[in-house]
Amino acid sequence: MSLAKTILIIGVGPGDPDQVTIQAVKALNRLDVVFLMDKGAAKDSLIEHRREVLRRHAPDRAIRFVEAPIPERDRTGDYEAGVRDLNARKGDVFERMIAEGLKDGECGGVLVWGDPALYDSTVRIVEEIAASGRHDLEWEVIPGISSIQTLAARHRTTLNRIGRSIEVTTGRRLREAGPRADSVVVMLDAENAFAGLDDPEAYEIYWGAYVGAPEEILIAGPLAEVTNEIVRRRAAAREANGWIMDSYILRRREPDE
Ligand SMILES: C[S@@+](CC[C@H](N)C(=O)[O-])C[C@H]1O[C@@H](n2cnc3c(N)ncnc32)[C@H](O)[C@@H]1O
Repeated sequence: MSLAKTILIIGVGPGDPDQVTIQAVKALNRLDVVFLMDKGAAKDSLIEHRREVLRRHAPDRAIRFVEAPIPERDRTGDYEAGVRDLNARKGDVFERMIAEGLKDGECGGVLVWGDPALYDSTVRIVEEIAASGRHDLEWEVIPGISSIQTLAARHRTTLNRIGRSIEVTTGRRLREAGPRADSVVVMLDAENAFAGLDDPEAYEIYWGAYVGAPEEILIAGPLAEVTNEIVRRRAAAREANGWIMDSYILRRREPDE
């Protein structure tokens, strides 16, 4: 039997335990340990989602939870430097968890919200630890359904129009650079960047919060007409739940729309 430790980075979808793939279920049933590295207001909900995913999909597996407090990002300086610094500190914490929480030959998992390839640092962190050579480590990535796939599906729309391009970006980048592709998918927007666009008449928006989860809210329409409603519903939902995860597709309107 191999004495290497194995890390599985498993995408578990954006909120609905039914949106977990069969490949992810097989991976969950290999786990001895689940590592938890959450922070912020959504922490309890994210942890409960993982527990529910495991109750449903790996009910017979005895899995230990190893939890680490994750440092907050320094919000005083440059954004990218702050994220890099945070990821370095997360890497240190994660490396300690692997060293102390996972025995030789065991399999540990990180259950990533949505898909690990989209605005998530776990792959970069594990890649770096594996490359350091300090541990006998094997690792795999299992894709998950991302929030933007679920957003498009719940609105019964597509991300791109025929033959056109899509840009996936953040609220911060949208504010700085504006929409650049025919369709723009915006994530991580804490400040309603869509409400600050110069020409709201030119766009339609498909907005969704908590997509796939019981709290889900969906609003779509011409941007100029639905902006106020989204801002209002977003603030109320955030207040009621203590946290919000929302994203949207902005699409340039065709001349006859
Ligand atoms: C750190 S990123 C993680 C994205 C994740 N890896 C994925 O595949 O969806 C978090 C952002 O994803 C979006 N998001 C995640 N879950 C969501 C959900 N259930 N409904 C709407 N947007 C969501 C929001 O824009 C949120 O700010």
